Amino acid sequence: MSLTNFPGSVGSSPLDSSITKVTIPALAEMKRQGKPISALTAYDYATSRLVDEAGIDLVLVGDSLAMVVMGHDNTLAVTVDEMLHHTRAVRRAVRRALVVADMPFGSYHGTVTEGVANAVRFIKEAGAEAVKIEGPRVALVQALTDAEIPVIGHLGLTPQSVHRMGGYRVQAKTTDAARQIKADAIALQEAGAGLLVLEGIPREVAAEITADLAIPTIGIGAGPDCDGQILVTPDLLGMLPWFNLKHVKSKLNAAEQMRAVVKEWKKAVTNGT
Ligand code: KIV
Repeated sequence: MSLTNFPGSVGSSPLDSSITKVTIPALAEMKRQGKPISALTAYDYATSRLVDEAGIDLVLVGDSLAMVVMGHDNTLAVTVDEMLHHTRAVRRAVRRALVVADMPFGSYHGTVTEGVANAVRFIKEAGAEAVKIEGPRVALVQALTDAEIPVIGHLGLTPQSVHRMGGYRVQAKTTDAARQIKADAIALQEAGAGLLVLEGIPREVAAEITADLAIPTIGIGAGPDCDGQILVTPDLLGMLPWFNLKHVKSKLNAAEQMRAVVKEWKKAVTNGT
């Protein structure tokens, strides 16, 4: 009963019958009914709680935290322990949305046994309800499914492959590459993946994959035809003016607003008011 103290977990949800918990089968049902799925990243209690209360269906504790929270140049440096720490904070905040933890680079790139053991930690120690892994790791997805761990696949521009890809480039641009990614998507679904993130691929390829699969696709820089969309929340809020992203138009200039409020407060302190 180690999860009974996580709000919204299976053990505690009967206490709040007003909330219908989002689950992997519920997201599959949304696809069947043609209802778009909304997903955002979060890494801390306050943001996760606001995002959840706003009705977002899936909260991803993304390994993007390496860049947007910790200030690294890419996502590779973040560790399992750091991801667990943030996943616990998100878990305490979220009641309704599906909480997904990103498996960080190196935590599933060795043996399948190591990958399953690390995934178990996210479920058992942090209260995640699913894990996300990058690339067509079909054997691992099958093993996680056998271990009762819901898995979200991630294909296309997979940031943990930045060195192999030679930068953050749109993928699946040739006919062969498009054929390969479609085959990978089917293989992940057959291995038991419950959802697929499609990042940085042409709109037409994402649309075809979405039509071919029974499981939902969630796009980021993959056009509007996926079953849902995901963004990195600090990008949506305009908190990272240092990054120049093509796929996202910030809906708020939080960075400017924060600077202005901080300057105003500093002035008040300096003036003794
Ligand atoms: O880590 C991340 O933020 C992601 C994106 C798909 C949103 O994986």
